[in-house]
Amino acid sequence: MIIIGSDHGGLSLKTALCEYLGRRGIEVADAGTNSDASVDYPDYGQKVAETVREGGAESGILICGTGIGMSIAANKIPGIRAALVTDVFMARMAKEHNNANVLVLGGRVLDEQKACDLVGAWLDATFEGGRHQSRLDKITALEMKYC
Ligand code: RB5
Repeated sequence: MIIIGSDHGGLSLKTALCEYLGRRGIEVADAGTNSDASVDYPDYGQKVAETVREGGAESGILICGTGIGMSIAANKIPGIRAALVTDVFMARMAKEHNNANVLVLGGRVLDEQKACDLVGAWLDATFEGGRHQSRLDKITALEMKYC
């Protein structure tokens, strides 16, 4: 299952991505927002990231206007590797090298087709492990040191 959340700046892309994931037969949990009213992106970043951290979803997708705020917020939660991506190569690398468990997109940066392509590239990729796992272990050590 994938949990997806956005602020008002990512709402229309979230709707499009829910449909895309549904077409792929992937179960989706919608963490909101579900109206155009202005909301604070950290609230939705927290909801999605905590759900992934606690094992309530395999991975998450977050969308705000640029993706920047959501990625900053989600990466505050230990165990979350949130990757803000803008092209297919980055989306693939986010899984292959970084094992990103949250993908972050900018709703005011991407059109719907591009966003679906990025999500597809991330979902279809596989973490390579090996030297990349050692690097992730160093990130975990940083979390342990400061959290
Ligand atoms: C909201 O206007 C906007 O600041 C937010 O969607 C996001 O882009 C923040 O990084």
